[in-house]
Formats: sequence, C-alpha cells, structure tokens
Amino acid sequence: IDPTMDVFAEIERLKKEKNAIVLAHYYQEPDIQDVADYIGDSLGLAQQAEKTQADIIVFAGVHFMAETAKILNPSKKVLLPDLKAGCSLADSAPADLFRKFKEKHPDHLVVSYINCTADIKALSDIICTSSNAEKIIESIPVDQPILFAPDKNLGAYLNKKTGRNMLLWNGACMVHEIFSLEKITKLKTRHPNAKLIAHPECEDPLLRMADYIGSTTQLLKYTQQDNGSEYIVATETGILHQMQKASPEKHFIPAPPDNSCACNDCPHMKLNTLEKLYLCMEYEAPEILMEEQLRLAAKKPIDRMLEISR
Ligand code: 13P
Ligand code: SF4
Repeated sequence: IDPTMDVFAEIERLKKEKNAIVLAHYYQEPDIQDVADYIGDSLGLAQQAEKTQADIIVFAGVHFMAETAKILNPSKKVLLPDLKAGCSLADSAPADLFRKFKEKHPDHLVVSYINCTADIKALSDIICTSSNAEKIIESIPVDQPILFAPDKNLGAYLNKKTGRNMLLWNGACMVHEIFSLEKITKLKTRHPNAKLIAHPECEDPLLRMADYIGSTTQLLKYTQQDNGSEYIVATETGILHQMQKASPEKHFIPAPPDNSCACNDCPHMKLNTLEKLYLCMEYEAPEILMEEQLRLAAKKPIDRMLEISR
C-alpha cells in the first residue's frame, strides 16, 4: 500500500463503488471499528448479515463469524481480511471427535455456541450466542438432556443460571482464561469503587467475583446505563474503544492477565488490520466459500436460534 494513501477514505470509496457493507466485531482494532457500518456482538452481526441489501459483506471478525454470514446470505460475496483469523474455542471442537462424542449420547439435544465451525453447526440442533444462550436453553423442555459445546465455561455458567445439568464439551477461549484473580483482587483494593464486569467465557471463580456478566453488547450497554464511574473489564480489550467512546467520563481498566508477558488481545481477531481490510475490498479476496450441502445443514440450527431471538 502507498504509505501516503488515506486508507479510511479509500475504504469509504470502495464501500460505495462496490455496494459493500463492513460488519465488525467489538474485538477488532479501533481503526476498523471506526470504518465499520455496524459493530456488534455475534448475535447482532448474524442478524445484520442476514438482512443486508449490500452485494458484498466485508466481515471484520474471525472465520466462524464470516462463515455464519455466508450461511445466512449465500448470494452475497463474503470477504474476511485475513483468512487465518480463526478462534481457539472453535478449534477446541474438531468435527470428527465431536461426532463420536455426539454418537455416544444419542438422546441428547445438541446446543452449540456460535463460536464453532460450520461442521459443528451442521451436527447441532440449535445454536446460541452469549446474549441469547439463557433464553435458548429455557426454550428446551426441562426433561430433555442437552449436550452443550464447545465452551465449558459458558456451559457451566448456563447450568448454574438455568439449573440444568447439560453435558459439556471441554473447550475454552484462550483470551477469557488468561485473567489473574489475584491481580484483579489487588486492583479492586486500589480501586474500591470499580465494578468487575465479565464475559461468560471466563472461568467460574472470576464470574463469581463479577458485578455483571454479559455478552460484549450487554457489557457495553451496562457501562452506559450504570451509574458507576470505574470498571474492570474481563474480556478482550477491543471492547474498551466503544465503552470509552460512549462514556468518555468513565474509567475502564482491562482486567490483568496471569502472565505479564501475555495480554488479553485475541491474537486471531487482531490478525485483521485496516490495511488488510482495504486490500480485501480492493481485490475482493479472500472470500468465504462453502459447499451447499454443508451450508444447508449448518443453517438449520442457526435459523432456530434466530427465530427464538426475534
Ligand atoms: P460476543 O460478542 O457474542 O459476546 O462474543 C464474544 C467472543 O468471544 C467472540 O469471539
Ligand atoms: Fe475465539 Fe476467544 Fe478470540 Fe473470541 S476471543 S475469537 S472466542 S479465541
């Protein structure tokens, strides 16, 4: 890229020329959030992808999110700035192992968190996201055994909230398991008025300490509506950009990770950059493509989720 190029302006030009929409997750770098037409959590992004009139969906997020957009809107060209932007949680459920696990529990209904591959979706009965998971579980008769995948932390949180005893796949997100309880406790003594807000992908001991638990959109809304002034945020740091924009007078502190060499940036989400976003719009690649049989099988449980979430 020509270093003198105004990448922001070029992206705006390409959006108009190509009738393209940029959908971004809150974990994307601030520059990407600033050029996005819509910023949201996984549910909001899926809903936008389903209803857009644009010809091209530029998905600034990770692979399973762009894949979901393609599943819902196959006539659109779906672009992902970096095809390697994966997800440790989605990777924790390989389809062949999951199929075998499912076969051992044929009486169980399979509820999968949207952070999984299209292959896992195709093996699922219903999908959920962090913002509608409780509602989805509550919609299932209490005597129906459930297998929940791939996030064991979200699954355990849901078991606690709904009183169910769902069988859990042993997967987790590398970003949400990195936080140090000890450091958070110390931070709270230095900031006694700070509220701890956490994503349900975090482990149970952290969630027990939290003042509020929710999806990224729910966490953002909470900080806007709550009358507090300081928050320790236990999720990926990208969300702080919108929190700070919406409440400039409030103070947001990223929850500290265990190891001082580590950080709570998602390495997959952060593979996307503004420059790669521009290049993928210019060259219309890399593109998400999917076999039609897989797409249709993966669409069924997503449609069930969207129906319940309307
Ligand atoms: P939500 O934005 O749906 O809460 O998901 C968080 C996440 O980890 C996405 O990868
Ligand atoms: Fe996956 Fe975790 Fe990154 Fe979200 S934050 S994309 S769940 S690795």
